[in-house]
Amino acid sequence: MESESPTPDLHDPRDRRLPHMAPPCGLVLFGITGDLARKKLLPAIYDLTNRGLLSPAFALTGFARRDWDREDFEEFVRSSIENYSRTDFNERTWQQLASGLRFVSGSFDDPDAYKRLAETVAELDQSRGTGGNHAFYLSIPPRWFPVVCQNLADNGLNQREGNAWRRVIIEKPFGQDLASARELSDVVGKAFDESDVFRIDHYLGKETVQNILAIRFANTMFEPLWKANYVDHVQITMAEEIGIGTRAGYYDGIGAARDVIQNHLLQLLALTAMEEPVRFTPESLRAEKEKILSALRLPEDLASTTAHGQYAAGWQGGAEVKGFLDEDGIPAESHTETYAALKLFVDTRRWAGVPFYLRTGKRLGKRVTEIAVVFKRAAHVPFENSDVAESGQNVLVIRVQPDEGMTIKFGAKVPGTEMQVRDVTMDFNYGHAFTEDSPEAYERLILDALVGSAPLFPHQREVELSWQILDPVLRYWAERSAPEPYKPGSWGPDSAHDMLARDGRTWRIP
Ligand code: BG6
Repeated sequence: MESESPTPDLHDPRDRRLPHMAPPCGLVLFGITGDLARKKLLPAIYDLTNRGLLSPAFALTGFARRDWDREDFEEFVRSSIENYSRTDFNERTWQQLASGLRFVSGSFDDPDAYKRLAETVAELDQSRGTGGNHAFYLSIPPRWFPVVCQNLADNGLNQREGNAWRRVIIEKPFGQDLASARELSDVVGKAFDESDVFRIDHYLGKETVQNILAIRFANTMFEPLWKANYVDHVQITMAEEIGIGTRAGYYDGIGAARDVIQNHLLQLLALTAMEEPVRFTPESLRAEKEKILSALRLPEDLASTTAHGQYAAGWQGGAEVKGFLDEDGIPAESHTETYAALKLFVDTRRWAGVPFYLRTGKRLGKRVTEIAVVFKRAAHVPFENSDVAESGQNVLVIRVQPDEGMTIKFGAKVPGTEMQVRDVTMDFNYGHAFTEDSPEAYERLILDALVGSAPLFPHQREVELSWQILDPVLRYWAERSAPEPYKPGSWGPDSAHDMLARDGRTWRIP
């Protein structure tokens, strides 16, 4: 990946003069009838086709238990595209995509279905020109991974020929803890090389997340301040207004920490804290992220430095909402947390002593994801009667979503005869600065997987290091305490506020 190519190759992600475009290939989607496929994956594939980023030879095969023929499948794909795509429906694009649709009916453990899949893949190579390049997207519960991988291998579907490739794309959760993450990885590793495994953390596909790297490493003005000498603490928040909806089957027993902190928030932390990578290659990027993840340390006293909660019944946005324990499919005695917060330290010279506070939750005050770097107060302020002591803490906020952009908070003089200083903000807004819309995270990640570009996919070592951090917290919660109820529309349980108050700080209200 790292050497210079003498001649431009249309499918070579290194050549920035050419569009990042997928070569002729096929994608087999397991879990096609699931919510994720319907609302995100199929629309993303359509949007990529509409933007000319997939080859005309691209083929999409659905694999599911439904007793569908090709027409039923076509109708299902079309309706998902019409309902959820980002770009307008275009009949020509649809015809191009529809001509490459195939459907294989069967359960995940039916060996005959995989024989039919192998025939379909061979037929696509012949009729459509997919050239032996195929990716298998497992948007299915991880308990099925061993069975699917084994059957793919038994039918030679993991075997590449010549320069062709075979890849597997997997969705989280990558296990429930460190031990199960390793087992899962061993299972996938029996059928596919690590370099052919693409683990999706969809936060890494978000433009604003990639912008963390641009802000830090394409400028000179931020990096000198990005260290313990100037930074007081960092807050990383991923808050949602929604409850668990119809996802009880997935969510119960998983909870907020496994669902969001293990992957999205620890990845955001790693990008915020890491050193500059030597190059923008998977190896360099992963090496720097891994160093940070290995340098993470939990405080000893988990009782006062972590918090977990469960949303109670109440009112949110003018509507009455159910409590977590009343949601369909959730056992009345469930201890699954819907809110989780942690304090972590990064034991490196750059970050010594700087707390990183992470929090995530459902049914909170607002849907917002942000990284707030809160700077130390000025050591001395020479203006008497100023309000600086009350405010006066510079903050740089990377707004991941919604309202993507960045805000800098700093003190400015209040107009008038007195020397009064108040906090003001300066905003960069993606929507105002650029005419192009940001692509959906899944568009970027599906395209990258088909192109074979791995920087935005976490390596197994990152997954394991993240579990290593989380395991003691999950064990502690399981052994000691039930999650504390919190009101819908609030900013989480009291224990989360107490956790920061003990450090003389408060959570930001975004
Ligand atoms: C997923 C979690 O990874 O991210 C969900 O499993 C969560 O629980 C979702 O709702 C949020 O994604 P986004 O892109 O809307 O922030």
